[in-house]
Amino acid sequence: MSTRSIPEALIHEIRERIDIVDIVSSYLPLKRSGANHQGLCPFHSEKTPSFNVNSSRQIFHCFGCGEGGNVYSFLMKIEGLSFPDAVRRLAEKVGLTVPDEAMSPAEEKRREETELLLRINGAAAEFYHQLLLEGDEGKVARRYLRQRGYDAESVRQFQLGFAPERWEALARHLQEKGFPVEAVRDRLGLTRAGKEGRGDYDLFRGRLMIPIYDVRGGVVALGGRVLDDSLPKYINSPESPVYHKGRVLYGLHTAREAMRRLGCGIVVEGYFDQMALHRNGFPHAVATCGTALTPDHARLLKRYTDRLLLLFDQDKAGRQAALRAMEVMLPEGLSVAVVELTDGDDPDSFLVRHGAEAMAKRLEAAKPVIEYYMDLTLEQCGDGVEAQARAAEAIADKLRLLKSDIERDLYLRTLSARTGIDAALLGRRTAVAVAQSETPPPAPRLPVPTPRPAVRPPASGKLERAQKTMLRMFLEGQIAATELASDDLEALFPDSGWRRIAVAALALAAEERPLVDGLQERLEPDDLALLAALLMEAHEALLDEPERLLVDCRQVLLKHHAEARRRQLPELIRAAAAAGDTGAEAELLQELQQLLKKKL
Ligand code: GTP
Ligand code: MN
Repeated sequence: MSTRSIPEALIHEIRERIDIVDIVSSYLPLKRSGANHQGLCPFHSEKTPSFNVNSSRQIFHCFGCGEGGNVYSFLMKIEGLSFPDAVRRLAEKVGLTVPDEAMSPAEEKRREETELLLRINGAAAEFYHQLLLEGDEGKVARRYLRQRGYDAESVRQFQLGFAPERWEALARHLQEKGFPVEAVRDRLGLTRAGKEGRGDYDLFRGRLMIPIYDVRGGVVALGGRVLDDSLPKYINSPESPVYHKGRVLYGLHTAREAMRRLGCGIVVEGYFDQMALHRNGFPHAVATCGTALTPDHARLLKRYTDRLLLLFDQDKAGRQAALRAMEVMLPEGLSVAVVELTDGDDPDSFLVRHGAEAMAKRLEAAKPVIEYYMDLTLEQCGDGVEAQARAAEAIADKLRLLKSDIERDLYLRTLSARTGIDAALLGRRTAVAVAQSETPPPAPRLPVPTPRPAVRPPASGKLERAQKTMLRMFLEGQIAATELASDDLEALFPDSGWRRIAVAALALAAEERPLVDGLQERLEPDDLALLAALLMEAHEALLDEPERLLVDCRQVLLKHHAEARRRQLPELIRAAAAAGDTGAEAELLQELQQLLKKKL
């Protein structure tokens, strides 16, 4: 990552000259409240403000969704920028420049290539666009679009285009513009190599062209639809350095603003569904375009909203796609509901037939995805006792995907009421499914495991508190670095996030640099969010007796560490024995005996 290639001093200097309160205020209204400024969180939808900005620390944190960090993290999140781009953006604001040599030569090259590829795609989209707007060749496409209700204005709105029925239209055009043929052909796949001495020929011929943008509005790919019933219906740009279809959502660059504003997003399958929704006053729709929804998609959407409506085709494939999307989106903590339309319709055809108002009603009636799954499963399973039991089991298992145990509980009751099966029984099944999805896969038997535990269970509330308390005391200068440095950091900080912060802070202490400030330059965004949460949370009684507190925290954590290790050792010993590694076996046995003795 290029995160670290911009000089720390410059990152610092820019941050010094900027007030995070000003930057955030340009996106949302903030009100002073005690030491902080508060507002409605732009990263999840809420009615009472839990989004806090602290001017003295120059950090933000949302108690609702947990987002947090410094001014760079804020800009990255809200604008979808990379770290270097966020730094550049703010540098401009304060009249500083980020030297280009801040990038490594490899990064520089990649950046240049990306720019070139986006320029080429952009030129292709523009070429096709002009051919659709004017000229004889485009007539057939204009007629097609007119039939679907698209006039010149909507053609401009979506930058639609037309690829003529010629073999080398685009190839020649891009060559005349001076773009390198290798980039056009080998990197973007807009053309293909001709046979035996013939020139490259176009990928798209006789198709309606739809440019696909990234969040910043760069054309990353193009989709081309036939104008009749021939197959394949769509051809899309192949994957390229600028296009990974699992990470791009069609229309996100225009929809994201509306998603934030409306507190909700709509996910559809097709380009034409997305366009139809936009044209009918639903600007918060995006399309997946022929791929199943990926975890990357889910995380991308989560930047803008935490509530999503799945508006898929009303057929078997659409229903399956909705259930697959459920598996991906619920674990991200997104709230997901399924919109049902009349059978056989897709969003586009529904809008044509029934209009925007009917659509709005359907959106309002969206069913929480788990309920949708429950309905489908129970409907399809029939009346037999065994079939009912299997269905109930499947549903109880699926409830593991819910993040909230209150929600889980509510669905368990519903399921119990609908099947007549005891709720407690169902609940146990869900609990097992939850535990199984949380336990890391069993350690491999061979080769002999390393003596250090690699994976740890997530820390409980008590452990979390102890780690945070110690870190906070350290950051506030209440305990010395030696208190932490002399110890086994894995034991004191079982959570890798807190541990990374501790390690970074210890390094800063060794360099005699200010800790909180330095951390802001060194931590990756996720850890920075943790730090912001830590600094923002109120710890009233915390700082009275740091020495006593430190003893307590250490005791809690070291005890936990020893116990975890003790639980893990028998398995490691068995594995060592099975592998015939007697040396390791003896060592592990001895460790176990010592731990057991300590406990007595
Ligand atoms: P219309 O039929 O014109 O309304 O288009 P649509 O966008 O609604 O397409 P459809 O519902 O058939 O398919 C949904 C999406 O899947 C499309 O928008 C494409 O992104 C993708 N898709 C459909 N057919 C093909 C195909 O033949 N090849 C590829 N690569 N993608 C396809
Ligand atoms: Mn469709």
